[in-house]
Amino acid sequence: MTAPPWKIKVVEPIALRSEPERRRALEEAGYNTFLLHSDDVFVDLLTDSGTSALSQEQRAAMELGDEAYAGSRSFFRLEQAVRETYGYRHVIPTHQGRGAEHLLAKLLVEPGSIVASNLYFTTSREHVELAGGVWVDVSVPEASDPLSAHPFKGNVDLEALGHVLAACAPELIAFVRVEACLNMAGGQPFSLENLARVRELTLEHGVPLILDATRISENTLFVKDREPGEAGRAFPELIRAIAELSDGAVFSSKKDHFVPIGGVLALNDDELAERARELVVVYEGFPHYGGIAGHDMEALAQGIRESADEATVRHYVSQSAYLGGLLLERGIPIVLPLGAHAVFLDAKRFLPHVSQEEFPAQALAAALYLAGGVRSMERGIVSGQHGDEPYDGLELVRLTIPRRVYTQEHLAYVADVVTGVFERRDQVPGLRMTYEPEHLRFFQARFEALGVFLEPSVAVAEPSTP
Ligand SMILES: Cc1ncc(COP(=O)(O)O)c(C=O)c1O
Repeated sequence: MTAPPWKIKVVEPIALRSEPERRRALEEAGYNTFLLHSDDVFVDLLTDSGTSALSQEQRAAMELGDEAYAGSRSFFRLEQAVRETYGYRHVIPTHQGRGAEHLLAKLLVEPGSIVASNLYFTTSREHVELAGGVWVDVSVPEASDPLSAHPFKGNVDLEALGHVLAACAPELIAFVRVEACLNMAGGQPFSLENLARVRELTLEHGVPLILDATRISENTLFVKDREPGEAGRAFPELIRAIAELSDGAVFSSKKDHFVPIGGVLALNDDELAERARELVVVYEGFPHYGGIAGHDMEALAQGIRESADEATVRHYVSQSAYLGGLLLERGIPIVLPLGAHAVFLDAKRFLPHVSQEEFPAQALAAALYLAGGVRSMERGIVSGQHGDEPYDGLELVRLTIPRRVYTQEHLAYVADVVTGVFERRDQVPGLRMTYEPEHLRFFQARFEALGVFLEPSVAVAEPSTP
């Protein structure tokens, strides 16, 4: 692991609850880690979204927030940061990433129109479908193979995309979406070369190419490290080169931009941006704040600059590599190659005795919490199944690393907890869903256990804390 290019100035206390307390909390949460209270969690690896530590520069910038309803100078500073870092002409702030996705879907998706994407992201797909669109997966097959060592599993399958584009009139394609550090594949990057080929295809067919640039910094680092000929390029230049291949982008700024709240819809097309500004007043707020405060925009502008700092991004990615390396050494099944923002456990191999209908990744996430207060997230059938369609896709547990928050000792502790559960994996039963929400069910679904989780007599042997 590389040494972090920061030191800690403010700390937040955390505590490990006792095993009976954790068991009670888990049952009350219906075996859904989203429904746990954060006070009951020791190491919180639920998400990297909005959970980063702010820098002193971000905090200082917040003091300069201009809370004017219209014409806020904080907006113009944000606009400048986006333009300088990514080159997009128009900047529309939103309350978070899904606010930008909502606007984009309203702008570009008509009933029956197609969005072609590398795999999917939950909220991205939901907004497209709510607008009547049809989501088409054009990811490379390696994206869905946790054992493939392909260095760019976030790539688009160019042949598949070519077929989709050739089969439809251009007005039937709403946009082509390419997600950086593809979350659902395990935080896997696309290559610059692949994106350039996607660009050629979209230009040829006259359809917009929109990046989900939420994790563009980490994707850029992988391009620099893995793609022939890119190692010598300056990091900020490479970020910009990626962004310049697209017509626009959606950002959840709660990740790479180190802010607790905020998102951006960035566009190059003047007319589309004008329409987006008309819509933003309906759904988010005036175009000069778009659902966040002036001080949020200041923190975001500064965070965007920090997200282009190679040492910061390199340290962050090395944390996943460290945790993943410990788990690999111990024979724990994880997704390879190691991704950017998280280590993904392969629940199908971890719990081969739990069938996919019994939610192995959900059960494994519950077991990790029970064993050591470590909170993770299911990324399997609960998140991925679509209506009544059969699902036999990946069954992953995401150990997501908040930026600039946890130390090497915390990560070593997490590795010990995972190892402890792996050694007792026969004591992790499946689950039955008892409540299924209509939308994005993984957030609030509830479950009951189909057996006893980690026999109390055994689980009572507490893992040693850092
Ligand atoms: C790739 C990607 N796109 C979009 C979003 C949605 O952003 P938000 O949670 O800020 O609404 C997320 C959130 O996790 C994400 O990972």
